[in-house]
Amino acid sequence: MVGSVLVERMRAEGDGAVVEPRFFSTTQAGGAAPDVGQGAARVGDANDLDALARCDILVSCQGGDYTEAVHPQLRARGWGGHWIDAASALRMKHESVIILDPVNRPVIDAALAAGRRDWIGGNCTVSLMLMAFGGLFRAGLVEWMTTMTYQAASGAGAREMRELLVQMGHLRDAAGGLLDDPASAILDIDRRASAALRNDMPAERLGFPLAGSLLPWIDRDLGNGYSREELKAGAEGNKILGLSAAPVPIDGLCVRIGAMRCHSQAVTIKLKRPMQLAEVERIIAGAHEWVRLVPNEREASLSELTPAAVTGKLDVAVGRVRHLAMGDDYITAFTVGDQLLWGAAEPLRRMLRLLVGR
Ligand code: HSE
Repeated sequence: MVGSVLVERMRAEGDGAVVEPRFFSTTQAGGAAPDVGQGAARVGDANDLDALARCDILVSCQGGDYTEAVHPQLRARGWGGHWIDAASALRMKHESVIILDPVNRPVIDAALAAGRRDWIGGNCTVSLMLMAFGGLFRAGLVEWMTTMTYQAASGAGAREMRELLVQMGHLRDAAGGLLDDPASAILDIDRRASAALRNDMPAERLGFPLAGSLLPWIDRDLGNGYSREELKAGAEGNKILGLSAAPVPIDGLCVRIGAMRCHSQAVTIKLKRPMQLAEVERIIAGAHEWVRLVPNEREASLSELTPAAVTGKLDVAVGRVRHLAMGDDYITAFTVGDQLLWGAAEPLRRMLRLLVGR
């Protein structure tokens, strides 16, 4: 899915014109390659190391297992090209840089100057959080942050997105004719929906009902109270910012909700000093061109600060910015971003551009 979005974005931005693209697949070698401007071509075999090693830059959306199998072999045989990857396998390795150039271009530039060659996209939730609040971190204003997430089905995968829709249909079907009858009792409808939720929701992929419910655990259980997803905020966030030596505490709970492809997050930020809201908003909005600040008002929040409003867009919406009762050095805010764009494909294609443009 990330690969498909990447190809769409490369086509839209004309990236095919600045590279000579070759496509590789582990399962579809020999098929017609997607055309990003290079014309008709065939897909190569993604396990053909000789063919891979002839490329200056490899961009992988294949997943961590592929990275772990292929990347070390290429490096071992002396391949000195640039490896750009969507998977998490190499992310926290010392030699790797987590790429999110609107936020950490100086970190990327320093790594390029130092001869680094492994460029890894961050966890989608972390990347979107930093796209939203990177300005405050860059200004050194954040003492700590909590982030409570509302993550979309797309983060789990394409089949989970399909299953979410099937579950929605299943709930509707369970209510049946009662829904069409305005005189039917809501508690009767609820009884049917609740019975469907408990007894027979199709949940082969998700494991549990997501439609009409939520899933307060994402990824593996690390056995210390954390889910694997939750550990990434602090670790990856600080690595992206170049702050791993003196990390800012960033922590919270990760929850899957029934959105399709936009991850949302509610954050609490402890600032290092009391600040006026206008100054906080100015710094958030001024971070880069993809922050879209939504006024903290009912109409604007409901129409512009939702997965429905943000889906498919590059802009990351930030709103509900206000002080908390604890004091003027405490801020809350809400952010929504498309996790397949800035959360996945966009940093990869921008890194490709950056390398080609050097
Ligand atoms: N791990 C994320 C999720 C998506 O499950 O939503 C990819 O970073």
